[in-house]
Amino acid sequence: MTAERAISFTSYPESAYAGSPAGAAFDRIAQDYDRRFTDSLIGRAQRDAVWKVLTSTFRTNDKVLELNCGTGEDAIFLAAKGISVFALDASPQMIARAEQRLQHNSPQIPVVFCELPTERIGELHPETHFDGAFSNFSGLNCIADLGAVACSLARLVKQDGRLVLCFSTRFCLIEILYYLALGQWRKALRRCKGYNDVMIDGARFPVYYPSLRTIRRSFAPDFRLYSCTGIGVAVPPSYLEGWARQHPRLFLLLRRLEERFATLPVLRSTGDHVLLCFEKVSR
Ligand SMILES: C[S@@+](CC[C@H](N)C(=O)[O-])C[C@H]1O[C@@H](n2cnc3c(N)ncnc32)[C@H](O)[C@@H]1O
Repeated sequence: MTAERAISFTSYPESAYAGSPAGAAFDRIAQDYDRRFTDSLIGRAQRDAVWKVLTSTFRTNDKVLELNCGTGEDAIFLAAKGISVFALDASPQMIARAEQRLQHNSPQIPVVFCELPTERIGELHPETHFDGAFSNFSGLNCIADLGAVACSLARLVKQDGRLVLCFSTRFCLIEILYYLALGQWRKALRRCKGYNDVMIDGARFPVYYPSLRTIRRSFAPDFRLYSCTGIGVAVPPSYLEGWARQHPRLFLLLRRLEERFATLPVLRSTGDHVLLCFEKVSR
């Protein structure tokens, strides 16, 4: 089955790049993103933890919407398991890279990549509802109005469908301790006020750090939060990759601790990211 037949839409934009500032920023690092993050020790460790939850949530033949898919690592992983993925991103260069990887490695699997900012998913008109949706590694932290995204998802996802959403946290303990130890208190507290201007290769865009309560409220009443897992609670943020490579044994220990800490109340909210699972409920 080709990807197009696996996921057919009554209409979706061929090219919908709307000048999203985050999309424009990620354009600049698209060719280097996999080296910088996907294939790093820390990126791999954090993603493995997300994949455990994704594979226990979605099944073969499910049809899933991915928001802010980046270079397509998760979409290709799920599609290789027979899950149909319709994957979107605001950055044309990230989408081009995802396409390139798909054509190079596994062109037959059921995945479609499309340029579309998350703010515009209301424009999608699938023939059938999605079994669920997911967003990995902070794409939703670039969204000012999460409630509007939740409303669109409620229309696109079937009853009892699942959302798996990975946000950057507002309070990352390792980051705070690391930058305080360097005497850089501004960087240490950069997430705590809930908003920050982030710079990627000279391009600036706004990033939001909503609290767990704000996220849960934004997705209610259509979606109910049923699980919360810390990602990067013991494993540090990706800018500490150099340290991780210099200390392989310690890093392995942190990976093992991560499995223990990830679901502990309080501690699970102090990691680099938090992975939230929602179920669509009847009103
Ligand atoms: C940190 S990357 C994560 C990429 C991918 N999900 C992964 O797991 O590697 C964040 C992604 O969000 C995308 N993004 C940021 N703002 C967006 C928006 N408003 N709509 C769609 N995608 C957006 C960026 O282009 C980038 O690809």
